[in-house]
Amino acid sequence: MNIASFKITPTPAIAVLTAAIFAISLSGCSQPEPVEQNAAEYKLVTADDANKDIGTYVMPQDTAILDEPNADSILYGKRLLNETKRLLPDNVGAQMNCNSCHIAQGKIPLGDPYINSYNTYPRVMPRSESMVDLELRINGCFKRSMNGVPLDREGPEMIAMVDYMQWLSQNTPKEQKVNIDNAGKVDTSLVGDPVRGEKIYDAQCATCHGDNGEGIKDSRGDIVFPPLWGDESFNIGAGMARTYKAAAFVKYNMPMGIQTQGLWGHGNVLSDQDAVDVSEFFTHKPRPDFAGKVNDWPSGKKPKDARY
Ligand code: HEC
Ligand code: HEC
Repeated sequence: MNIASFKITPTPAIAVLTAAIFAISLSGCSQPEPVEQNAAEYKLVTADDANKDIGTYVMPQDTAILDEPNADSILYGKRLLNETKRLLPDNVGAQMNCNSCHIAQGKIPLGDPYINSYNTYPRVMPRSESMVDLELRINGCFKRSMNGVPLDREGPEMIAMVDYMQWLSQNTPKEQKVNIDNAGKVDTSLVGDPVRGEKIYDAQCATCHGDNGEGIKDSRGDIVFPPLWGDESFNIGAGMARTYKAAAFVKYNMPMGIQTQGLWGHGNVLSDQDAVDVSEFFTHKPRPDFAGKVNDWPSGKKPKDARY
C-alpha cells in the first residue's frame, strides 16, 4: 500500500469530529471550576425584639451591585471605604481607611459591620446624647477614627458611602434588623495590665503593626497594616481609643490571619484578659488629641475607659 496515498484530507465531517473529540476531552479532563461558597445568611428580627424570627438576610455578592440603578455610586462608595486615605487625602488625617476597622468591607459580624447601619440611624447616641443620623455618624468616624475633617453631607462622596451601606442592608425594612452583633463581648470588670499588654503586643501584633505601633505601608505609600498609635493613628476621641471597645474588637478580629475556630480573622487566640491587657497598652500610647472632646457626654455619663 502506498503510504503517501493514505493521507487524511480534511473534510468538513472530520473537522466536526475533531472538534467534538476536543470538546469531549475538555469536559472530561479536570477543568478548573470556580469555587462556589454559600452566601452567609442571618436571621432577620424586628428591631425591638431580637427573639422574633421573621425571615432571612442573604449576604449579597458584590457583582450584584451592577444590577442596581445607582451601581456607579454604590461602587464608588465601596472604593471610598476601602481606599479612604488615598482617595480623600484632604479629609483623612490618619494613615487609615474606613475598612481598617470595618473588617471585610463591613460584612462580618463582630468586625464593626455596616450591615445594619442604614437601618440603625438616626438614633440617639450616648456619647453626644443627641439624635445622630447616618451622615453624622460617618462624619464622627472621619473626625475621630480618621483624625480628619468631615465630608460635605450632600456631596457625592457621602452619598456614595451611604448608598453602599443601603445596598448592603438589602432592603431590610426599617423596623427590622439583621440578627448579628457589631462587636463581641469582653469582661469589662477585668483591669488591664499594660506591662503584660506590651509583651503580648511584641509577640502577637508587632510583626504587622510595627515595633512602635506605626503600621506598615507598601512601596507606593499605601496602607497595608494600619498604625495603632502615634501621630498617624486614630485620635483620643475614637471608640477604638477606649480600652474595652478596643478589646472587644481585638479579641474577635486580631491577630489577623490566625484563627482556631469560626470565621477567618475571628481569632479566638486571645483570652479576655489578653485582649484587655494589650488594648490597655496600645490605647494609652501617645496619639492625636481631639478638640471636640469637650462636647462628649454632656451630662457626665462618661464611661470609665474614656481617655479624657
Ligand atoms: C480606628 C477604627 C475605625 C475607623 C478607621 C473607622 N471606624 Fe467607623 N466605627 C468604629 C467603631 C469602633 C465603631 C463602633 C463605635 C461604637 O460602638 O461606639 C464605628 C462605627 C461606625 C458606624 C456606625 C455603625 C453602626 O451600625 O452603628 C459607621 C456607619 C461607621 N463607623 C462608618 C465609618 C466610616 C465611613 C469610616 C471612614 C470614614 C470609619 N467608620 C472609620 C471604628 C472605626
Ligand atoms: C497578620 C497581620 C496582623 C497581626 C499579627 C495583627 N493585626 Fe491588627 N490589623 C491587621 C490588618 C490587616 C488590619 C486592617 C484590617 C484590614 O485591612 O482588613 C488590622 C487592624 C487592626 C486594628 C484597627 C485599625 C487600627 O490601626 O487601629 C487594631 C486596633 C488592631 N489591628 C490591633 C491588633 C492587635 C492588638 C494585634 C495583636 C494582638 C494585632 N492587631 C495583630 C493585621 C494584623
